[in-house]
Amino acid sequence: MTEPVETRVADGVATITLDNPPVNALSAGLRAGALAAIERALADPAVAVIVLAAAGRTWPAGADIREFGRPPQAPSLPELCNAIAASPKPVIAALHGTALGGGLELALAARCRLAEAGTRLGLPEVTLGILPGAGGTQRLPRLIGAREALAMMTGGVPVTAARAAEIGLVDRITEGAVLPAAEALARDHAAGRADLPLAPARAAGGADPADYLAAITEARAALAARPAPHLPAPGRIVDCVEAALLLPEDEGMAYERAAFEELVASPEAAALRHAFLAERRAARQPDLAGVSPRKLERVGVVGGGLMGAGIATAMLSGGLTVTLVERDATALAAGLSRIATIHERAVARGQMTAEAREADWGRVHGATEIGALAGTDLVIEAVFEDEAVKIALFADLDRVLRPGAILATNTSYLDINRIAAATARPEDVIGLHFFSPAHVMKLLEIVVADQTAADVTATAFALARRIGKTAVRAGVCDGFIGNRILTAYRTATDFLLEDGASPYQIDRAMVGFGFPLGPYQVLDMAGLEISWARRKRLAPLRDPARRYVAIGDRLCKAGWIGQKAGRGYYRYPEGARQGVEDPEVLALIAAEREAKGIVPRAVSAAEIRRRALAAMANEGVRILEEGIARCPSDIDLVLLAGYGFPRWRGGPMHSADRAGLLQVRNDLRAFAREEELFWRPADLWDELIRNGRHFADLNGA
Ligand code: 3HC
Repeated sequence: MTEPVETRVADGVATITLDNPPVNALSAGLRAGALAAIERALADPAVAVIVLAAAGRTWPAGADIREFGRPPQAPSLPELCNAIAASPKPVIAALHGTALGGGLELALAARCRLAEAGTRLGLPEVTLGILPGAGGTQRLPRLIGAREALAMMTGGVPVTAARAAEIGLVDRITEGAVLPAAEALARDHAAGRADLPLAPARAAGGADPADYLAAITEARAALAARPAPHLPAPGRIVDCVEAALLLPEDEGMAYERAAFEELVASPEAAALRHAFLAERRAARQPDLAGVSPRKLERVGVVGGGLMGAGIATAMLSGGLTVTLVERDATALAAGLSRIATIHERAVARGQMTAEAREADWGRVHGATEIGALAGTDLVIEAVFEDEAVKIALFADLDRVLRPGAILATNTSYLDINRIAAATARPEDVIGLHFFSPAHVMKLLEIVVADQTAADVTATAFALARRIGKTAVRAGVCDGFIGNRILTAYRTATDFLLEDGASPYQIDRAMVGFGFPLGPYQVLDMAGLEISWARRKRLAPLRDPARRYVAIGDRLCKAGWIGQKAGRGYYRYPEGARQGVEDPEVLALIAAEREAKGIVPRAVSAAEIRRRALAAMANEGVRILEEGIARCPSDIDLVLLAGYGFPRWRGGPMHSADRAGLLQVRNDLRAFAREEELFWRPADLWDELIRNGRHFADLNGA
């Protein structure tokens, strides 16, 4: 392996530059190179001061996440940090970019820290289910005090350089590039013209132990008040910060290390790592390498309902100019007022400045004719979910839009190839499936139709990045990735409903698993009529041999279509948002069972979860086999970013890997004895099991 570290010695100063693109992750090679360079500088009599810097876009952004879960390779990051901390020659850390995780711990081991103005500094380990494991929990509170240190480590949110200077995390912010400033300081120190560190630590020595302990008590209380689930990492961080006060430094370090080792091996941390890597993988599209996205500045949104207004708001947040089109002046005014309300709420909550709102509002235009879209680069339709309506609209858009403009549909289920065929330019047509509310929900399914041009797909990914969405590529089929899995999930729970479970019991079981809402709570919120319309659309295609649960249809026929009607699976007395259980719904379900001759049986929460997860994973396998998703982690990401699947469980495919493919396949086989058509395990299960492989093996790098 090439040495990713370079050393230059001049005027008594050794400048050691780490160079491991793209983010200088502290891989084994980089650690070994850095340690060797430090040792050489210590042995070199010409060196009095060491400057540690990083090449490229950033100071190390952390330990190398890909190394977790593999056998450790020497030297460890704590060894490297300890060598820096113990160095008899002062080490100055020259920070720029994102000094995160192990990267910030490396800087904490130095005698002092300089940072460029745009640097962000943080310890985001908690978002990966772990804690800073290279001395961070010990050195940070000693430097900046327990209260600030706990906020940074349990929150995981990076701070700006200005804030870091305020709390004493960096000694100085440099006007321009950090390296020349750090080298000048090093020369001054070598010549006896400057003392190091520049700023005294806020907490060292003078720290008030009573205040320190109070900060710990407060942090414990705040964690206990957080909504469940209570993942272990934040609590262990507090324990480590307490240890920093109560134990000698080397024992505190050992305490931190043990906690780190324990957390890094936990299933929650494995799932969170998987989610992190899944996000990066989904953004990488090897077949689009070298394909330039089309220009994107002016966007049209057709339809100003909840979805259209949300999409328009998301576009504005990315600095795009938006023309919103509605069928008449009243509907247009309602659409624009929806955008204004979203902005108002964001300003009231402090999520947006008044200036940003003005700037966004200055870029919205309204129109009642699609002719107004003639000059746009992209149009997204968010009209009624009806194929004939969408096909007619696309034919009109085709006539109006300039050559090269992209036509996107926000359909959740419909066949985009058929919509594209309504135009003379199917290569410019793509699916952009947003999730409601579109300005909030992270997920964007990019649905690539048969004839979609590569640069149109590349533009969709560039757009997603610009508006801060998590984009996942999908192929055309009924429901794409997410809604197909959702349908399988609901089918499995509907079977259980008919077999003996109540909707409330099912919701509790899935909330207990970690979903924010159970499937019937979600249905009530979204409106039962949406899935009913879909069932009616698909009724002519349904295999009569398939088991069909009609409970949802019965509720719709009774007008119990969810929250907005005051009742669905739950009742919402006087517009309450939290539903209460409804005996009439239970009676309706009981009548349905009786009509089908089903004798209700007891169903446990464990069985509900087991069946729900098996159904999701089995549908995921079918989606993979059909080439609708590129890899299992894309499926997981869709569920995590768009459907409330708990991130710390990693998604249905990761969950199946953890449960064991043989176990899940055997469950599917057992369930298939009751209902072959739905539960039959897809072929890939056997192929993977035979070859000792897992879904993770299909993800690639
Ligand atoms: N380890 C390994 N690879 C990493 C990495 C890490 N810590 N951080 C980023 N990368 C990789 C990404 O996978 C991606 O790879 P790819 O190009 O092959 O897809 C590449 O670097 C670029 O990353 P992004 O696409 O995320 O680039 P952005 O510019 O959008 O973001 C970033 C850069 C802010 C640094 C972001 O990548 C990030 O937040 N990284 C993770 C930071 C982190 O969590 N650090 C703590 C790690 S745990 C730790 O340090 C433990 C220690 O206490 C012992």
